[in-house]
Amino acid sequence: MGVPGPVGKAGLDDIDPAGKRVLLRVDFNVPLNGDGTVRDDSRLVATLPTIRDLQARGAAVIVVTHLGRPNGKPDPALSTRPLAADLEHLLGSPVAWVDDCVGEVVEREARALQRGQVLLLENLRFHPGEEANDPAFARQLAGLGDLYVDDAFAAAHRAHASIEGVAHLLPAVAGRLMAREIAALNSVLENPRRPLMAIMGGSKLSTKLGLVKSLLERVETLCLGGAMAATFLKAADREVGSSLVEDDFLEDASAIVRQAADRHVDLQLPIDAVVAPSPAAKQDAVRICSVEEIPPAEMILDVGPETVKRWGELVRSAGTIVWNGPLGLYEKPLFAGGTRQVAAAIAASSAVSVTGGGDLQAALKGAGLEHGFTHVSTGGGATLTFLEGQELPGISVLLDSAQATRPALR
Ligand code: 3PG
Repeated sequence: MGVPGPVGKAGLDDIDPAGKRVLLRVDFNVPLNGDGTVRDDSRLVATLPTIRDLQARGAAVIVVTHLGRPNGKPDPALSTRPLAADLEHLLGSPVAWVDDCVGEVVEREARALQRGQVLLLENLRFHPGEEANDPAFARQLAGLGDLYVDDAFAAAHRAHASIEGVAHLLPAVAGRLMAREIAALNSVLENPRRPLMAIMGGSKLSTKLGLVKSLLERVETLCLGGAMAATFLKAADREVGSSLVEDDFLEDASAIVRQAADRHVDLQLPIDAVVAPSPAAKQDAVRICSVEEIPPAEMILDVGPETVKRWGELVRSAGTIVWNGPLGLYEKPLFAGGTRQVAAAIAASSAVSVTGGGDLQAALKGAGLEHGFTHVSTGGGATLTFLEGQELPGISVLLDSAQATRPALR
């Protein structure tokens, strides 16, 4: 099912990049292996349509990104250098690299770049001006290009120089990935196909409180799994054994249950669970039981088969499904079944399905199911912020910029 809805921001089709130097902000903040190689290249793959489009239309492409949190100083372990080889491999054309992102050498390399050529710069966060949104640093970056294209949706919740500051200084538009992310997430928030169902998982209610509250105002059905379900079960006076519970959030959980009832939202908690004495348990210590019968020395590590069956039925009748967070300790195969089976039900359904967040993306990829979803967001914090209904500086600035500079775009 395609992603519905207009984007409403100026995009790649609004610019003529032929013969221009395009400063392209991407989010290549990817997980790395111990030896510095890329563990998951999804964020690189997701930007290929934008880079290829710019190359094909005759732009010289200067790619900038952050990687990790080096705190404003160079850290060889967080250099973007290895990413240049990965990008080159994925693009099928050469990617040059330079060991800084501002300064004379970088300016010279950027000026020498020819139509269709790609240059990746060193980690933006090696300079304190990036995270400080320092106007002088933004001016240095802007000096590298004639146009600015932002494809870094996953960093759009950060008001940093390469995201916010620079967009005021050059004609600025959204890249293909940015446009796709905005359209897909808007398909959940604005006029979704109903019924709208949200599935939430993950370990902590405390980090998802804003999202749960925001979704409660929009959905017909809300399914709560993952370790955070234990906090809701305990708040409802159930015995949850040694499950992870956030005792400071029991009152919030009760308030959410009351709010759901007031709004006639069908709030679904697990009815059964996969339990074991610890996450390290072996197969013979793992069992399934009703949530009424969790033994005192055992913990909930996944949703059980009856829960999967019930949620699967709800998935089949949903118009739109938004899912954030795994339903069990998916890193361990013994506790990955609930997440995998609900994902398979969604992939087989006809609903518009939108998901995101590193954990769930990895779980879906591991199960080979990510292509069954309408949209798998590249964002973590950015996706949460968007779905909470909050403003993202990296998106607002593109709208402002499009209005202010539209005549200058072509
Ligand atoms: C992310 O991976 O969520 C983004 O790249 C933002 O990274 P940050 O949380 O380090 O700003």
